[in-house]
Amino acid sequence: MSARTLFITGTDTGVGKTVVTALLASLLIRHGRDVGVMKPVASGGVEKEEGLRSQDLIFLRERLRLTDPEELINPVCFREPLAPAIAARREGREVDLGILDKAYEQLKRSHEFLLIEGIGGLLVPLRDRFAVADLALRWETPVLVVASPRLGTINHTCLTLSHARAHDIKTAGFLFNAARETDGGGDWKSSAACIDEFCGVPFWGMLPFAGELSSGGSAWESLLGEADRQLAPRLEQFFE
Ligand SMILES: Nc1ncnc2c1ncn2[C@@H]1O[C@H](COP(=O)(O)OP(=O)(O)O)[C@@H](O)[C@H]1O
Ligand SMILES: [Mg+2]
Repeated sequence: MSARTLFITGTDTGVGKTVVTALLASLLIRHGRDVGVMKPVASGGVEKEEGLRSQDLIFLRERLRLTDPEELINPVCFREPLAPAIAARREGREVDLGILDKAYEQLKRSHEFLLIEGIGGLLVPLRDRFAVADLALRWETPVLVVASPRLGTINHTCLTLSHARAHDIKTAGFLFNAARETDGGGDWKSSAACIDEFCGVPFWGMLPFAGELSSGGSAWESLLGEADRQLAPRLEQFFE
């Protein structure tokens, strides 16, 4: 087996990449698909009994029945909430691309689909002169860009999409996610149309702010319903 892959990136940190990764994986699972998820590099890990763990891994674990070993799902995690190349340097380490490749290949072999969550945005450095975009390119994985329905999003989203295009990274689409209560108040429909017109990349939809997303809670279920209506048809089309 060799999984079909999608790399979830964003215009910034905190825009909802982990939430979108969990939603898309849940949708695929609900439709009877076999899905793996991966967070190749994380920072700002929390100390648990088992050691340092990525908060994104914990979030994904709580919402998806993941059977893969954690060291494959998240092979590299730093304690400090910094860009990985900087966190690594401060710990006297370096991100080992060989470890990432091995985990990626193994997960790809074990699933029908593999969703990979980046860190921050495309130009976050993972090591010297090697950013998140280089990882997507190395793995030849199309990217989905999570953006915010806030003022400024046309610039952030178009910059992200044009960087992808300039570096031959395929783009599956972009979507808006209201990660904050104040998001989505402006004319996000016109912003989405403007980005589509400038960049020629399909708009997958707009996920509303759903409140506190506790696992199994009603906010999570209602967001999942919204994702099913808006994103599932796009996802199906992309993977067909
Ligand atoms: N649609 C939403 N409704 C409510 N809360 C959200 C929504 N999207 C994201 N959040 C919250 O916003 C924060 C950032 O989201 P997250 O997915 O972790 O972002 P990223 O992975 O891009 O850093 C988290 O606390 C998450 O629970
Ligand atoms: Mg995240």
